[in-house]
Amino acid sequence: MRTQVAIIGAGPAGLLLSHLLYKAGIDCVILERRDRAYVESRIRAGILEQITVDLLRQVGVNERMDREGLAHDGFAMATGEETIRIDMAALTGKNVMVYGQTEVTRDLIDAAIERNIPLLFEAENVAVHDVTGAKPIVTWTRNGKQEKLEADFIAGCDGFHGVARASIPADKLSLFERVYPFGWLGLLADVPPCDHELIYASHERGFALASMRSHTRSRYYVQVPLTEKVEEWSDERFWDELTVRLGPDVAPRITRGPSLEKSIAPLRSFVAEPMRYGNLFLAGDAAHIVPPTGAKGLNLAASDVAFLAEGLIDHYKGSATGLELYSTRALSRIWKAERFSWWFTSLMHRFPDTDAFGRRMQMAELDYIKGSETARRTVAENYVGLPLR
Ligand code: APR
Ligand code: PHB
Repeated sequence: MRTQVAIIGAGPAGLLLSHLLYKAGIDCVILERRDRAYVESRIRAGILEQITVDLLRQVGVNERMDREGLAHDGFAMATGEETIRIDMAALTGKNVMVYGQTEVTRDLIDAAIERNIPLLFEAENVAVHDVTGAKPIVTWTRNGKQEKLEADFIAGCDGFHGVARASIPADKLSLFERVYPFGWLGLLADVPPCDHELIYASHERGFALASMRSHTRSRYYVQVPLTEKVEEWSDERFWDELTVRLGPDVAPRITRGPSLEKSIAPLRSFVAEPMRYGNLFLAGDAAHIVPPTGAKGLNLAASDVAFLAEGLIDHYKGSATGLELYSTRALSRIWKAERFSWWFTSLMHRFPDTDAFGRRMQMAELDYIKGSETARRTVAENYVGLPLR
């Protein structure tokens, strides 16, 4: 088999890249390790920046998002005593779309199948070869049969635990990491959200987040120590803790119900530089991870593949510039999102070493944001997404 671009991974990065290439008439093949049901079952964040919304509309995979997505002009930051609204629309002229990553992935897979983009699920033991040569190769096994694909380029969109970054010699990569000393316990329930917008809470007992998937399905999180086990958290214990942390103004509006899903996710900041090795390019979680506080993971995956698709299109038009600049362009936006995600996480969470002075610093910064339009505009312009360039 042969193609122009071999894509490893059918998450948001790989799928969106395949549609950008399809629209440009560039052939690609997507190799996904898991089966379709697994990929479509993953529960992930659901905040789309305008850039991501625009990309989905550009590739024509936006009909359900535009029908079912919720446009949000603002969000709130709760301090246990009061709530600060960040009016993104007024402060930046932009908003965000609430539409689950699960739904984005389902829509992109449906469209790929409809467009006959080669999307191979259950591709096991994927390996890359000769990535610094002119004809890199990807091999894998499927139904016990060894398969091989020649390509001009390989896009490693296989996430944090994928094979692409692991295939780059360690001395060719610089890694940057911050592991946070807590996790997020998330709960999904078919109950109406407690507010029409998201609420991020910084409480003495820890962080909490009130989010949603629709007007009838809510997504909530509470910060927990990394030693916690999800089995130790009954639904009732979760609802009780969430109610305390969201504060007395919000508590009466919380509707409880049985959890559809409950899990604990660790928080990490991570970047691998550069995002290219020969004809292998990294995009999305394969190259970087952000703590979910800033809702940047999916949006960075989208901007990465926008830059990568631009470079690949340039290449087939005869210019190498886009691919030569890919890593630099992507990393510039990635590091600014890493900074915002790290800052927002540091402000809103209780760290084991957050002493009385540290808590006062957090409260003072929240009070400053409450009283300064400039500070709120800074929060807003990072949350809605900084420009691509
Ligand atoms: N071979 C083939 N496929 C693989 C391999 C492999 N060795 N390793 C991982 N994969 C697949 C995974 O099964 C997954 O479907 O690659 C895909 C990677 O998808 P994501 O992890 O979702 O990464 P990405 O597409 O970059 O999207 C980033 O997803 O995980 C969230 O929070 C993250 O919102 C962010 C977004
Ligand atoms: C979610 O809805 O899952 C969500 C929303 C905002 C975040 C993180 C997660 O910052």
